[in-house]
Amino acid sequence: MSFSNEITSWYNSNKRDLPWRNTTDSYTIWLSEIILQQTRVEQGMPYFYRFLERYPTVADFAAATEDDILKLWQGLGYYSRGRNMLATARLVNEHYKGRFPTQYNELIKLKGVGEYTAAAIASFSANEAKAVVDGNVYRVLARYFGISEPINSPAGKKLFQQTANDVLNMEHPGLHNQAMMELGALVCKPKNPACGICPIKTDCYAFLNNATTQLPQKLKTVKVRERYFHYFLVTNGSEILMNKRGPKDIWANMYDMPMIETSENMNAYEVLNLAESIEYFGHTPQVSEVSGPHKHVLTHQRLNINFIILNSREIKLKQEWFYANEEKLKNLAMPQIIFLFLTNFLN
Ligand code: ADE
Repeated sequence: MSFSNEITSWYNSNKRDLPWRNTTDSYTIWLSEIILQQTRVEQGMPYFYRFLERYPTVADFAAATEDDILKLWQGLGYYSRGRNMLATARLVNEHYKGRFPTQYNELIKLKGVGEYTAAAIASFSANEAKAVVDGNVYRVLARYFGISEPINSPAGKKLFQQTANDVLNMEHPGLHNQAMMELGALVCKPKNPACGICPIKTDCYAFLNNATTQLPQKLKTVKVRERYFHYFLVTNGSEILMNKRGPKDIWANMYDMPMIETSENMNAYEVLNLAESIEYFGHTPQVSEVSGPHKHVLTHQRLNINFIILNSREIKLKQEWFYANEEKLKNLAMPQIIFLFLTNFLN
């Protein structure tokens, strides 16, 4: 049997029953793929159901506000994905009469849709012969063919895409792509791959050469930037002082609390001295409690987050600050770390 026949036949008897696999609707597949780029299947599933229930069609999605989408996306991180989805839904609604594209060449033009996502949607919804290459596929190909070119070098990317194209089943590209990813997810796992039950182990370079731990290879990426966020928790008795973030930087347009950022670590008293010197609150409040640091690792930055609970009533409000009660807080899209802190604080 050919490579593709082996994996698709394995897939047919071993696949997980996942909701986005029972449809050829390109809008539904787009939803699932964007969510799954951000998280694992188990964590993504409830998000997928919530989005689909709230926005059954692309027209429903296009009519949403950015606040709605960010709130529904809350907890997935990388919030520009949520914003890109809204831009794409609106464009499809206007320029494609609400019919989500199924062709690779149309899909690739959409915001937030890269080569992987375009190939996934085109092959799953319309059986277009485009090979997907995601983390699972890199692993399967690198190990099976013994490819030691790093997956994140320009030459590596080209080689892996070419190899994926070469093995693609031209008659059943959608099925083949699902099978590649499922094999990577269930058998050819990053750690402790289940080679014993692998349908293609007898021809696998890494299995035959005991090299699964060495493949795939990856170049070390750039160093991360350390950032120190000092959040202030201020209440006026029943409400919490909140801040709407600007359009730049991480967590754009989401809601958090007033904060000062420093490039070096500082304790709460140093932070308050700094706040006083820039007249951040209009006067100097008292610290009543400190919590942190909470570390939050992103792709190119590491956030070190402290929470400083202040005893303070007379705060001079900045334009982007406002008080919110518990009911209102429920509707604000917040970074998950802020949401968890406030939930804990309020209970
Ligand atoms: N990860 C990304 N796309 C997927 C899919 N269609 N099924 C399972 N896992 C995935």
